[in-house]
Amino acid sequence: MISAIKSIYKGRRAIQKLVEVKFTGKRIPVRVSLLVTKYCNLSCSFCYVEELNSEKVAEPSLEGIKNILDQIYDAGCRWVSFIGGEPLVRNDIEDIIDYACSKSMFIEMTTNGFYVKKRIEALKKVDFLTISLDGDEESNNKSRGDGSFQKIVEGIEYALKNGIKVRVHAVLSKRTMSKKSLKFLSDFCNRLKVKLNFSEISLDDDKREPDFDLSDNELMEFYRSYKRLKKNGLPIVSSDVAIKYMEKWPLPEQTTIYKKDLPEIPKDSYYPCKLGRNQVFISVEGNVNPCPQLWSHGKNMHEVGFAEAWKHLEDLDCVSCKVLGCTEQSVMTGLEPKTMVNAITNFASS
Ligand SMILES: C[S@@+](CC[C@H](N)C(=O)[O-])C[C@H]1O[C@@H](n2cnc3c(N)ncnc32)[C@H](O)[C@@H]1O
Ligand code: SF4
Ligand code: SF4
Repeated sequence: MISAIKSIYKGRRAIQKLVEVKFTGKRIPVRVSLLVTKYCNLSCSFCYVEELNSEKVAEPSLEGIKNILDQIYDAGCRWVSFIGGEPLVRNDIEDIIDYACSKSMFIEMTTNGFYVKKRIEALKKVDFLTISLDGDEESNNKSRGDGSFQKIVEGIEYALKNGIKVRVHAVLSKRTMSKKSLKFLSDFCNRLKVKLNFSEISLDDDKREPDFDLSDNELMEFYRSYKRLKKNGLPIVSSDVAIKYMEKWPLPEQTTIYKKDLPEIPKDSYYPCKLGRNQVFISVEGNVNPCPQLWSHGKNMHEVGFAEAWKHLEDLDCVSCKVLGCTEQSVMTGLEPKTMVNAITNFASS
């Protein structure tokens, strides 16, 4: 009960900042996704993290991460999402969480679920936990490695047993979208009363696998069937608003709209992207990047400081991407009324 009240208080502080952004037009990095480690116990075939287990990249120290948290807090961040690599491989992850808690930041984490039991005391202090599960056993293990399915499922069940708010996350692929996988994800999430989130894959062409990648048409088919899937009981979190923008995307040949394209397209056919505008990603090395699509486009905050690295992103020439995950984040942090209701309902019911 006390932790639920704390989460509501912290969530309110984040929303207040988003309101400030919306009504003053200021650029504030309210939500920051922070890669706290380069290490991971898995090697998923589709992973976009370039620094993963790299010998060339230094692992961030606890003091280094506290310094990042200080700087982003001063810049207005009230909502931090810890990712990696695998955040739970860090022995000091509880110290990191405690430090963010001491600043009353709303804390999200995304994990592969393997070390939920080992880190359960730390995880009880997280406001929202996303656990990645890429379909049924066959689909998940093909992407995330043999034996991973069982460990992930155990992690999800253990977190829920300990009262943690959990959401399941799957990347949209041929495997997760197979009838068998969808049926499994639907039954599994409904049985455990957890919501399900999907996002598209962002990956360089040379890393793409033909039996994994959905074609543009297949993705479009998913957006179109979304309402039916939801009606049939698939507990997807994405709001109808975000899905509608995917369906009416105005430039079939392009996945990104740039400023130069704007005169050619109706204003209501896209939602202006908020990534790089009210939120940002910080890589293991300290690069401040707008989104996974523009990975390595940012300046390094350890060299120039967060404030300058954030300022560097103020003139992005991209306006919107046909990416459900980014659009969902944009409509939600853009405080679209319907999406806010959807997000709050999802949070309250998880
Ligand atoms: C990089 S992982 C880090 C956290 C943790 N290791 C995990 O797998 O959940 C964060 C999320 O990004 C997703 N992801 C990884 N590579 C991706 C890619 N190329 N495109 C889109 N999402 C990706 C993962 O499935 C996971 O849900
Ligand atoms: S578990 Fe997460 S960080 Fe590790 S390889 Fe898979 S997607 Fe990447
Ligand atoms: S418009 Fe696309 S490329 Fe630009 S920040 Fe948003 S998601 Fe990234």
